[in-house]
Amino acid sequence: MAEFTLPANSVVKQGELFKAPEGATNIRRFIVYRYDPDSGENPRTDTYEVDMDSCGPMVLDALLKIKDEMDSTLSLRRSCREGICGSCSMNIDGANTLACTQSIASIKGDVKIYPLPHQPVVKDLVSDLTNFYAQYASVEPWMKTDTATPPDRERLQSREDREKLDGLYECILCACCSTSCPSYWWNSDRYLGPAALLNAYRWIVDSRDEATGERLDDLEDPFKLYRCHTIMNCAKVCPKSLNPAKAIAETKKLLVQRKM
Ligand code: SF4
Ligand code: F3S
Ligand code: FES
Repeated sequence: MAEFTLPANSVVKQGELFKAPEGATNIRRFIVYRYDPDSGENPRTDTYEVDMDSCGPMVLDALLKIKDEMDSTLSLRRSCREGICGSCSMNIDGANTLACTQSIASIKGDVKIYPLPHQPVVKDLVSDLTNFYAQYASVEPWMKTDTATPPDRERLQSREDREKLDGLYECILCACCSTSCPSYWWNSDRYLGPAALLNAYRWIVDSRDEATGERLDDLEDPFKLYRCHTIMNCAKVCPKSLNPAKAIAETKKLLVQRKM
């Protein structure tokens, strides 16, 4: 999996060592980023020795075991534990991914866990995604129409048109892609980033939507869209195997086509 630079504040001191229970023989070490902005202290990494004989197979299982049995002060987000809600995204073993679908066995050596890169940290592994969600909202991710809805049925779509949404509608807004994109790291105030742009394209190609021109107008901007330099980290890390880079390229193509 692709490796990325960790957050600027990730040069952190070693913190506490939480030893495995006596008698445990199957131990893995988890090195976890800890930071509480309210404490006034610098970030640190704590090390937890986890007894794998009583731990589930995924990184999220280990983090919850740590929180339940070793250190209740550890903060992280999670909900579905099925790769559906997108809330457990973090940087594991150098790559952004979902803790609930990342197997521990596939990681060699100590398991290093940091929050998503280049986002403010609320606490420990919890990133502040306020800007990310605002950018998603800015593409108005809902169907916009001028014509009246047919009185006797919903707005229909051909099978072929529906298939155009495959690879787009599955986005779970985990932010793994945007926070792995160097262009987004440096310009996240003005560049929308791969997640928001994939979702913008999802509505641009929806045959039922009647605001295509308006949506394209909004993206015709040197920063919002054109800061994508085809670096491709977004497609490498997406835990749902989506390709935001392709959606961005298709959007650029549509902007060129409408000028011709
Ligand atoms: Fe997550 Fe993939 Fe959606 Fe990006 S495109 S937010 S990586 S699901
Ligand atoms: Fe970034 Fe993906 Fe473009 S990593 S530069 S959004 S291709
Ligand atoms: Fe929902 Fe991991 S807990 S995606």
